[in-house]
Amino acid sequence: MWALLGLGLALAGDLPPGDPARGALLEGLAGCQACHTSEGGAPLAGGYRIETPHGDFYSPNITLDPTTGLGDWTERDFVRAMRRGRAEGQHLYPAFPYGSYTAMTDQDLADLWAWMRSVPPTPQSSRPHELERFRWRGALAFWKLLELDRGPRRPLDDAQLDRGRYLVDAVGHCGECHTPRNGLGGLRDRLAMAGTDDPPEPAPDIRPATLGWSARDWEDFLADGMTPEGDVVGGEMGRVIRQGTARLSAADRAAIARWMREGVE
Ligand code: HEC
Ligand code: HEC
Repeated sequence: MWALLGLGLALAGDLPPGDPARGALLEGLAGCQACHTSEGGAPLAGGYRIETPHGDFYSPNITLDPTTGLGDWTERDFVRAMRRGRAEGQHLYPAFPYGSYTAMTDQDLADLWAWMRSVPPTPQSSRPHELERFRWRGALAFWKLLELDRGPRRPLDDAQLDRGRYLVDAVGHCGECHTPRNGLGGLRDRLAMAGTDDPPEPAPDIRPATLGWSARDWEDFLADGMTPEGDVVGGEMGRVIRQGTARLSAADRAAIARWMREGVE
């Protein structure tokens, strides 16, 4: 069902008009610039190293530079990458978390694409990945068949919970760091948010029964990164807060808080 929905939307083609300012806000939570920019490098020009149990990935240049970036990409190419994990006839590795982004709405994709087009093009060749396993991209077809539910999810009856799930699962891709993976690298849904020891940084178990946080605890944490114990999170999570959740509206933070307390088991 989801697959069909996603396919319908993706193939229907044209997105509504996008707003680059809204896109910039979304990308903070989605982490596009954080992951596609090397330390001290030009925005979106790539070269950021992503350590995984299968080897090191390097994010590619996704500025619109005509030779080393996405200069000739159309909106459709962008949607195909985000919803189906395909680019230039090849399957993309899920180190690019499209397994989460696939559920983004047409409007949010349009805003992101408008924002990407507003970032100045930078010529910089993308660095090849250094993988120990899964060097053959063809194998990703099987991964997708088993692990990828394409396209937006069927809406929940409760609008606030639906919004919370969307911000957590689709845009914020919290599970990409906090959910353990199976042998194929897919997220283990039954252990959603149960934490992992995988590189680059172990991410803690944040299920409601483990944390026991109130709605207020969650909302404060999402606004300033301070836990009820008075610790301030750093590293990757500090970035998720500063560039992502802190910049959302209070209503969006309340929606995330509610989903994390009621939607996650
Ligand atoms: C955790 C790191 C990470 C995040 C976050 C991330 N990406 Fe990527 N992205 C990658 C990697 C790695 C690849 C290369 C995948 C491959 O080689 O198959 C990639 C590939 C892409 C591609 C395909 C480029 C090409 O030349 O084929 C696009 C488009 C893209 N990302 C856009 C985005 C957007 C937009 C966002 C935010 C919504 C985003 N990425 C967030 C790591 C990331
Ligand atoms: C890029 C990986 C990454 C993403 C994405 C991510 N987290 Fe985290 N998160 C971490 C890491 C690593 C820590 C541990 C940070 C520390 O101890 O300083 C953490 C810590 C936390 C904590 C603190 C738990 C505690 O008891 O100290 C909470 C709560 C949390 N994350 C919630 C979320 C939510 C909600 C999202 C999605 C909006 C999210 N995280 C997205 C990596 C991530």
